[in-house]
Amino acid sequence: MFESLPVKVKIVEVGPRDGLQNEPEQVATTDKAQLIEKIAEAGLGEIEITSFVSPKWIPQLADATELAELVCNKLDSNITTSALVPNLKGYERFKETSIKQVNLFMSASESHSKKNINKSIDEALIALKEVADVAKADGYRVRAYVSVVFECPYEGKISPEPVINICDRLLEMKVDEISLGDTIGAATPVHVAQVIGLLAKNVGLEKLALHFHDTRGGALANVLTGLESGIRIFDSSLGGLGGCPYAPGASGNLATEDLVYMLHGMNVDTGINLDKLVEAGKFAQKVLKKDLPGRFLKAYIGAECKKNEKEKIAK
Ligand code: HMG
Ligand code: MG
Repeated sequence: MFESLPVKVKIVEVGPRDGLQNEPEQVATTDKAQLIEKIAEAGLGEIEITSFVSPKWIPQLADATELAELVCNKLDSNITTSALVPNLKGYERFKETSIKQVNLFMSASESHSKKNINKSIDEALIALKEVADVAKADGYRVRAYVSVVFECPYEGKISPEPVINICDRLLEMKVDEISLGDTIGAATPVHVAQVIGLLAKNVGLEKLALHFHDTRGGALANVLTGLESGIRIFDSSLGGLGGCPYAPGASGNLATEDLVYMLHGMNVDTGINLDKLVEAGKFAQKVLKKDLPGRFLKAYIGAECKKNEKEKIAK
């Protein structure tokens, strides 16, 4: 059992972007910067810190430029910072910063594409190619997300064909990595294995990442399927923050601590310090003034409270 487990995997932290884009309250730029620093201290090698989309659509991340100025130079030079870029207008803003990687995004369904970026799939591919061309020419690494790969909130189950076609087009744009988004957390292991199997030949397993939201509690099972299928890059967010504002029912991403706990328990290295990650999670809860959904975080804090109570009684 579990014979194909790797020695090490890469975890991409998307909380500061995917998480905070969905928070009803505006988080202060200085708090975002501190949060990113704490995540970096925990050992995350790649952090998606913000997004250069329209501030009218996502006001929560309107401070992308200011945030990049505050935080990029404070991080270890080995850390890859990245941000979503939807079009050339976003790329112009991105280029003014020291963020290292361009993250494109589009959808596998027409309805989600329209709701999310006001473009059809074909129009999105044109806009993405424009960005990919200049970003590659400028020497940036480029990652691309395909959203609603397994299920769409408007169209239901998605067949693998559009996903395969979109991935082929993204490869023609010379993107370095493709992250498959289970935007509304509806994927199940057999479906995940099927899609990876179909993409493995054209895209290559080493270029594929998995991005599970944990809406229905299936994310870890799907990660395990991904691991067994040869995937070595997984996206997650601190404390399970997250959601897509243009996908009803999309709740948080798989919590980074839950993912790290499972991987370390299976002797798969992540380079992440779980205690420091919890400190970052506690900071996020303080800033957002609420408990986050991550299970490991809850269990850790619960155990700490119990220990403190016992010590009080013993005194
Ligand atoms: P649009 O309104 O169709 O754009 O938006 P437009 O080109 O017609 O421009 C309209 C106005 O917006 C113009 O300004 C533009 O200059 C401005 P005006 O002349 O009216 O003053 N504008 C911009 N301003 C700043 N930065 C820009 C920009 N672009 C245009 N980049 C657009 C098109 C794509 C911009 C819009 O639909 C948008 O921003 N959508 C946001 C989508 C989004 O952020 N969704 C959440 C992230 S995706 C996600 O969460 C999924 C993922 O996690 C994976 C998964 O879970 O599956 C990645
Ligand atoms: Mg997402």
